[in-house]
Amino acid sequence: MRRSGGGGRAAYARGGLRVAPTESADLSVADLHPALGDPALTSMNFLNEVSERYPAAVSLAAGRPYEEFFDVAAVHRHLDTFHRHLVDELGHAPEQARRLLLQYGRTKGIVHHLIARNLAVDEGITVDPEAVVVTVGCQEAMFLVLRALRADPADVLLAVAPTYVGLTGAARLVDLPVWPVAGGPSGVDLADLRAQARRARASGRRPRACYVLPDFANPSGVSMNVPDRQRLLALAAEEDLLLLEDNPYGLFPVEDGPRPPTLKALDTDRRVVYLGSFAKTVLPGARVGYVVADQRVAGSDGRVGPLADQLAMIKSMVTVNTSPIAQAVIGGRLLEHGCSLVPANTRERAAYARNLRHLVAGLARRFPDRPDRPAVVRWTVPAGGFFVVVTVPFAVDDALLDTSARDYGVLWTPMAHFYDDTAPVCALRLSVSAVTPEQIDLGLDRLAALITDELLRGRS
Ligand SMILES: Cc1ncc(COP(=O)(O)O)c(C=O)c1O
Repeated sequence: MRRSGGGGRAAYARGGLRVAPTESADLSVADLHPALGDPALTSMNFLNEVSERYPAAVSLAAGRPYEEFFDVAAVHRHLDTFHRHLVDELGHAPEQARRLLLQYGRTKGIVHHLIARNLAVDEGITVDPEAVVVTVGCQEAMFLVLRALRADPADVLLAVAPTYVGLTGAARLVDLPVWPVAGGPSGVDLADLRAQARRARASGRRPRACYVLPDFANPSGVSMNVPDRQRLLALAAEEDLLLLEDNPYGLFPVEDGPRPPTLKALDTDRRVVYLGSFAKTVLPGARVGYVVADQRVAGSDGRVGPLADQLAMIKSMVTVNTSPIAQAVIGGRLLEHGCSLVPANTRERAAYARNLRHLVAGLARRFPDRPDRPAVVRWTVPAGGFFVVVTVPFAVDDALLDTSARDYGVLWTPMAHFYDDTAPVCALRLSVSAVTPEQIDLGLDRLAALITDELLRGRS
């Protein structure tokens, strides 16, 4: 590493070594944490940067929630609702309530009791509020859990591939290698999960957990059925694995009817660490998420408490506490809807379902089945969530995205960003969450033109 010294300063002795002065304190990325410069960390910035460079392009790339329903006045109301809750329902004196909202606060958060109630109402999950840590988005929750689990260089994380890049990036930051597990049509290829866990152990590694997204996964859009969820839990018990269940999209099924139970709802032996986000169900700008970590841990003082307590210790050195103002906004929204986010998202769910149907129908119109030859362009038909994966007979990379944005005016996400190797990937992800049906039509027309031209280019 180059050391600061300032031009003209004399060399100085350190630990018996003479250290030569250098021109400046500038650094090389090679001297920083190895995660910096890794594709997992540059991916989000790269995608943002492409969309900034081509602002006129229709974006079927962003997994952001629909903005039309954002309402600044509602934010004030939620804050007031939560403030009243502190005084009227929890019995805090006015100065205490003011302090809770505006002062540094409890590391594990101040809306943990409402999150526990929300999980009971919406998901049938019973959790002790003390097992909840309110975090700065789900992203921080992932980081805290991975930081805690990564205890030894032999540790590895299994993760269903393709994998959400935020998880891969967080794992990189804590030096935890990610071993891919095949996803397949059922969400998790259970035989491969068992094989990877055993392969890891046979090579002297310790698989700490497996990261899964059973509901409308990002990026695959795939969901697990209930028997497979039960089989996954049984397999995790047999192989002694924790499961990290991430569930930001579960409230957005296309069809009405009962939603399948989460892994955490089926979990009878504290095998599941549940990662939650309010970014899609309340407000991304609040940056509030949470983790339910009820696994028992004997602390250094011998006292047994939930893993959440250990995560809180890490959090106290990362973000200290999640903004209580942001938590209050989320808490107020929960209170205004009886702690259920299902009715609170009626309009959002309808918009996403309409858009998913519209996108899938639009793909079918633009790439119709031909009885005389096999389909070369295929796509998934997810039962909910934000994402559709389109498979094409050519490699889809960042250069093609650039061409698409510049020459065709449409943005999407290369699926290669969700795989941890450099093998070519012939697929792209489309997102329906931040667009109107008209924008979907325009985006698909442009995408169809790109794909048609690429197919012709391949033939010539
Ligand atoms: C699968 C998945 N997990 C976690 C997150 C991050 O959520 P948050 O915005 O709460 O940090 C996202 C965001 O897009 C996501 O798709």
